[in-house]
Amino acid sequence: MALSLPRRVHRVLLGLGALVAVASSGLPVLSAQAAAQGPCDLYAAGGTPCVAAHSTTRALYGSYTGALYQVLRASDNATRDVAPLSAGGVANAAAQDAFCAGSSCVISVVYDQSGRGNHLTPAPPGDFSGPAAGGYDNPANAIAAPVSVGGRSAYGIFVTPGTGYRDNSTNGIATGDRPEGMYAILDGTHHNSGCCFDYGNAETNARNNGNGTMEALYFGTSTSWGYGSGNGPWIMADMENGLFSGVNQRYNANDPSISHRFLTATLKGEPNHWAIRGGNAQSGGLSTFYDGVRPNAAGYNPMKKEGAIVLGIGGDNSISAAGTFYEGAMTSGYPSSATENAVQANIVAAGYATRSVAGPFTAGARISLQATTGCCATEYLRSSASSDDVRIARVTASSPAAEKADATWIVRPGLADSSCVSLESAKASGRYLRHYDYRIRLEANDGSSVFGRDATFCPTAGNSGQGYSLRSSNYTTRYLRHYDHAVYIASNGGSGSWNAAAHWADDSSWLAVGPWS
Ligand code: AHR
Repeated sequence: MALSLPRRVHRVLLGLGALVAVASSGLPVLSAQAAAQGPCDLYAAGGTPCVAAHSTTRALYGSYTGALYQVLRASDNATRDVAPLSAGGVANAAAQDAFCAGSSCVISVVYDQSGRGNHLTPAPPGDFSGPAAGGYDNPANAIAAPVSVGGRSAYGIFVTPGTGYRDNSTNGIATGDRPEGMYAILDGTHHNSGCCFDYGNAETNARNNGNGTMEALYFGTSTSWGYGSGNGPWIMADMENGLFSGVNQRYNANDPSISHRFLTATLKGEPNHWAIRGGNAQSGGLSTFYDGVRPNAAGYNPMKKEGAIVLGIGGDNSISAAGTFYEGAMTSGYPSSATENAVQANIVAAGYATRSVAGPFTAGARISLQATTGCCATEYLRSSASSDDVRIARVTASSPAAEKADATWIVRPGLADSSCVSLESAKASGRYLRHYDYRIRLEANDGSSVFGRDATFCPTAGNSGQGYSLRSSNYTTRYLRHYDHAVYIASNGGSGSWNAAAHWADDSSWLAVGPWS
């Protein structure tokens, strides 16, 4: 007998991002397949349709099959669009991997799935200039935020200071005091206190046009304007010249520190009314951290929203922030809590999870790190017998045992971040690889927090497509790289010979092989 579900229940089940079948028991069964509906279908059903939908991880409409984002390859400046594997599905990360193999890629466009053409590209200069040519902001490294969605590999957008995206000429985004909503899924463990890791509505000239000219989600630990309880990070609203946690200009005790690895953050505003909500993108619902009138400060009622879109930067192109963005959307109209709750259920059902690219980098493992650049493929990362110097040098089966030990590393949970690693010498217990003045040295752990940060590296897929790369945990655009046989943390281009773009991808890609000792 077919089960007839009340219309509302049926709609909610479809919104959970799973296909509904009816078992012989007559009870509905959810099967983990492509999303029948995406967040933007749910916003539309609630009467507040998406007018911008951005994601490098999955389609945000059940029927969306178009491009999610574009990657730009360093070796030849060629570009490739990445689409979902199927309608409503997860991004085809394998297409990116194949295209970028042997080189490195950045995310050059984040397409708007709403059909309104509100695509995000590296942000132009405003009150502040970005570090790239013409004062533009940097695009994100395309592999720096690996993630799994519904068991499939994808990549998020890893923002380091200097990275930012923007669209100053939009279609359908709220202006003036018109109602809107927005949500984003972020990495709640990746943040800083710089201004301003934002996603949402901003000025159309990238300049500070005064109080009330922005309405964007903010995430981080800035206390320069408002803040919440604890030490942060907090979800707040960037309304220009102010990050607001509630009605008071500074403090809202009900806006908690929140750091779920996958974090759902929502913000919405309408005349003299706005709200912040948040929750764990992997389970449970949303909590309301503020719901009330506009802040107690001049210039925010009525709002003067301008309708540009920013990601990873402040409204005036402040570029000091860090964070990771997986997906987000902006709506026309003030979404109901019920609609946001259905979107949160869809997000949870999508199945965000960490993705380890760190196969050999498991705590306690002994490894050796072999260079991959043609010049040096028989050379390994090695400490020196007599000093704290670390270089790449040849090691063979007939090398003395002490040299083999110099080229062997014990993987430890990262001293500053246990989701990354620190590498302890197999020869000298308590001595770790750390950078100092950008050069890698082998030094005893002095227990300081700066040592911990300098000695923590996050394994990623190799920048050249081969092996692994080790990203510095505190200088997040820099990777362990050999240059002229010495070893550094290096960025792909920049002052300092060791940052040379030539061979950067190969020099910063290592094979993690069986230990010499
Ligand atoms: O409102 C906080 C920040 O102040 C904005 O993002 C930026 O435009 C200004 O510096």
